[in-house]
Amino acid sequence: MSFAGKVVLITGASSGIGAETAIHFAQLGALLSITGRNKHNLDKVAEQCGQSKPFIITGDLANENDVKNIIDSTIKHYGKIDILVNNAAIAEFGGIETTSLEQYDNIFNVNVRSVFQLTTLAVPHLIKTKGNIVNVSSVAGLRPLKNNLPYCMSKAALDQFTRCVALELASRQVRVNSVNPGVIQTNILRNSGLSQEQIKIRYEQIKGMHALGRNGDSLEIAKTIAFLASDDASFMTGVTLLVDGGLHIMPPENVAMH
Ligand SMILES: NC(=O)c1ccc[n+]([C@@H]2O[C@H](COP(=O)([O-])OP(=O)(O)OC[C@H]3O[C@@H](n4cnc5c(N)ncnc54)[C@H](OP(=O)(O)O)[C@@H]3O)[C@@H](O)[C@H]2O)c1
Repeated sequence: MSFAGKVVLITGASSGIGAETAIHFAQLGALLSITGRNKHNLDKVAEQCGQSKPFIITGDLANENDVKNIIDSTIKHYGKIDILVNNAAIAEFGGIETTSLEQYDNIFNVNVRSVFQLTTLAVPHLIKTKGNIVNVSSVAGLRPLKNNLPYCMSKAALDQFTRCVALELASRQVRVNSVNPGVIQTNILRNSGLSQEQIKIRYEQIKGMHALGRNGDSLEIAKTIAFLASDDASFMTGVTLLVDGGLHIMPPENVAMH
């Protein structure tokens, strides 16, 4: 698999799955635009991308001007976009009795609204290159998880976005797919405000939610993203591909984000 000469734009590339995906695409020869708010972390990821020297754009996806700048500066730098990876997202824990409207808005602004805006701006460029989009969703988009209401809702919205936009762009030969991971050990729990001790306990508890009895690794998701973006998946569009260690086939009582 080679992405030589292909321009790949990855959001949330400063950490976790996005960082691993950037490094993986770099190894496959892609030209990268990587974004996030944390410049220091983006620089560290760029170093790990070796010779490919990614183009770094800092910005907050909740800010409309920053989102516009991500597309504008990628086009100014490379002149085109072949692949958009909508990866950045945040998690909030809580249910219908414990989630504030502010938490709901935070989640939807980053996980759904910014994806809508960034994709809208990228589509004219993807039509020109007959490129494709990979959205990073979650098993939480396809099945309910306890105590995770706004996040589950945001990923369900993203999955329907994947299917609707895939249908809309198919006649222009632009494919749109999603990867739906199970629990992957990244910085997402720390970024959601949990302490190191809470994170350790939670990752241990969560292992048992997967039929395979373990949490996933970012590289397992990065490889799936590259597959969906590659010509090997040339007849795939509108797919929400579970890479979840069998979490989706576990009985409901085994699946709770405490
Ligand atoms: N980890 C899991 O168990 C898991 C499971 C299923 C799905 N996923 C999905 O996988 C994707 C990546 O998650 P992860 O686990 O790798 O999380 P992570 O380690 O917390 O990374 C999240 C990334 O999103 C960026 N981001 C967050 N808010 C942003 C904002 N307002 N503006 C710009 N960038 C922002 C962060 O960059 P900065 O901090 O630099 O802004 C960071 O690079 C997400 O879509 C998540 O929902 C994760």
